[in-house]
Formats: sequence, structure tokens, C-alpha cells
Amino acid sequence: MGFYRERILPHLVNASCGSSLTTASRSRVCTGLNGRVLEIGFGSGLNIPHYPNTIRSVSAIEPADLGWKLARSRLAQTQIPVERSGLDGQSLPFDDDTFDSALTTWTLCTIPDAGAALREVRRVLAPGGTLHFVEHGLAPDENVRRWQHRLEPIQKRVAGGCHLTRDIPSLVLGAGFDIRELDTYYEDHVPRPLGALSLGVAVPSP
Ligand SMILES: C[S@@+](CC[C@H](N)C(=O)[O-])C[C@H]1O[C@@H](n2cnc3c(N)ncnc32)[C@H](O)[C@@H]1O
Repeated sequence: MGFYRERILPHLVNASCGSSLTTASRSRVCTGLNGRVLEIGFGSGLNIPHYPNTIRSVSAIEPADLGWKLARSRLAQTQIPVERSGLDGQSLPFDDDTFDSALTTWTLCTIPDAGAALREVRRVLAPGGTLHFVEHGLAPDENVRRWQHRLEPIQKRVAGGCHLTRDIPSLVLGAGFDIRELDTYYEDHVPRPLGALSLGVAVPSP
């Protein structure tokens, strides 16, 4: 990783994703997580304060060392064991059917092959396990989509490969999940090209 991605970007992500604007969505998406939980794109641990006490342990996947360091104070404040268990959501170091739940928040925009990561999540989720997601992506409105396509090349350069136009529900379905709950909305006070959110829960298709 280059200097910008390694030393600067995790601070920017910690500040922008740590905004109080994301609090309500984080709280909603973490509701119902239970047992052994996989979190891909753990970042600086901004979901930790929202982990419900039904979680037994968390295996965190995060490539950025600095993100993990920035998580220290949050890690110190939870009783739930959290272990950094891998670096790449596209290739998970776990046996099939290992987890009861999985969590991804504002991460599928950045993983180079988000479909591959979701297929890996499906593989390691036990039958009946739940994938909880809140992700920004392709907006429902054509005028916002036009801006997303215009801005995406810049966004990818300044935000570590972050895409604006990924169709999150289609990616989840395409990886072999059924979507049980889905809410699509624009985050208040966030420019619409960046704030078109999909929040939901999916289960592996039979
Ligand atoms: C925008 S940040 C979101 C962080 C965190 N999920 C949150 O909600 O605050 C995207 C995260 O995905 C991580 N990431 C990038 N490529 C990844 C990969 N291949 N596998 C797992 N995580 C990755 C980045 O290092 C970064 O921490």
C-alpha cells in the first residue's frame, strides 16, 4: 500500500465514517447480530459501540494497519472478544459454515471485487446465518446516478478505490443470498451521490 492509503486515508475514513450522521444506521444494522460474527472492512472499529451483547466473538478483516491501531480505544471499551483475523475479504481464512452472522458497513464500495467478497462471506456463514449490511451505492434516481458516474473517477482516486455506482442489492443477490429486509434511503445531510444507502439483512439462499 502507498503512503496515502496506509498513513492518511485511515484517518480520513475514521473522521468521515465516524461522523454522528452514521450513528443511527450503524445502530440499526448491528441489531440482531449474534454468536460468532465476521466483520469485513473493520476499519477503525466504528461499529464496536453498536455491537449487541448477543455477540460472542468478532473476527475482523482489515488490510490497513493504521485502521486497526485507531480502533484501540474502542476495542478497550468492549467486553466482546474481537480478533484481527485476516486482511482481505475476497479470500477468507475460515472453514465453510463458521459464522452465525456477518457485518459489512461502507466497505463493499472499496473492495476491488465486492462480488468475490460476498461469495466468501456466503461460504463461511452457517446455513441460516445472517449478513447485515449498510452500504452506499447506486442511487435510485437517474439525476443522482448521472452525478455518481461523473464523480466516480475522482472518488476512486481520493478515497482509496471507493466506487459510487455499485448496485449493492444486486451484488448481494448475485453472491447467493436472499434478502430478508431492505431499506434504501438517502442519508440526511450527505450529498446524494455519496449518501444513497442500502441497509438490510440477507441469508444464504438454500
Ligand atoms: C470506508 S472504510 C469503512 C470502514 C468501516 N467498515 C466503517 O464502517 O467505518 C472501507 C474499509 O474497507 C477496507 N478494505 C479495503 N479493501 C479491503 C479488502 N479487500 N478486504 C477487506 N477490507 C477492505 C479499508 O481498509 C477500509 O477500512
